[in-house]
Amino acid sequence: MSFTSSAPAKIILFGEHAVVYDKPAIAVPVSSLRATASAEESNIFQIIAKDLDRVFPIDIQSQVVDDALALTVHLVLQHLKLAPPPVSITIQSQIPLASGLGSGAAVSTALARALGKVLGHELSDFELNQIVYEVEKIHHGTPSGIDNTVIVYEKPIYFIRSKPIEIIDIAKAFPLVIADTGQQASTRISVGDVRKLYENTPNEIQLILDEIGQIVEQAREVIKTGALERLGPLMLRNHACLQQLTVSSSQLDHLVQVAIDAGALGAKLSGGGRGGNMIALATFDTINAIEAALHHAGAVRVFTTVVDKQQVG
Ligand code: PMV
Repeated sequence: MSFTSSAPAKIILFGEHAVVYDKPAIAVPVSSLRATASAEESNIFQIIAKDLDRVFPIDIQSQVVDDALALTVHLVLQHLKLAPPPVSITIQSQIPLASGLGSGAAVSTALARALGKVLGHELSDFELNQIVYEVEKIHHGTPSGIDNTVIVYEKPIYFIRSKPIEIIDIAKAFPLVIADTGQQASTRISVGDVRKLYENTPNEIQLILDEIGQIVEQAREVIKTGALERLGPLMLRNHACLQQLTVSSSQLDHLVQVAIDAGALGAKLSGGGRGGNMIALATFDTINAIEAALHHAGAVRVFTTVVDKQQVG
């Protein structure tokens, strides 16, 4: 008996941070970069997290479950009203940690899927999404739910907190170059800092959040109609708003400028910010030049994903 499940990385194209305040956001899966959970028979139930070099004995009787993997297991077993099966589940992930690519949600999704299969109950995307959202609270404190949703459904989504998700039709495929600053940053801290700003100067911050909301609406139309020449300027406007929310960094700003100078149509930070990844909109002709420039500017990892309607699980 052996079962393997996986889940993709993700990037937020538009609307991070404002999405916490009920504004819309757009996110896409990155299906080439994945977290995997493989279950094998074993005498005891255990989780082996190879990348973290730890074996977790899971105490599912514990009332306080504050480890993300333990909590995932706990929630799946509670949901299915079943006891832990005699399996060893090995987790592996190609997704860099704490860099805005959704590594935590992808690992939880892969683990919950594998455990469901082992227990003879393949969890629906709806069930999985609810479980992974609960786990996301450990990483983010007050997550909007966008990360778990795009990762579980593995489709491009237009997302508003607490509303039904909308899967976006991509009229015309476009390449995005993704570059990692190499600086790990806590989403929980950047989200908390935006919250403090909002509490101190609500009127000013509300204007920025409203502006981001308008940018997202325009981007959704552009993506649905394929008028991609309008997408780059929207990315730059969104990045400027994120700078005003204090969640950019000098390295993110530098990489955005480098990408533009190398021919990108637009660029912005993606995710929680202060580090992590930025994204640049390329054409199929400019991918190589933009990738090379970002490497040269000190990005620790650069790769390209093509956003298109084939992005399915
Ligand atoms: O975890 P990240 O870096 O992908 O950022 C999540 C996006 C935020 O909007 C900053 C937070 C949230 O919960 O939506």
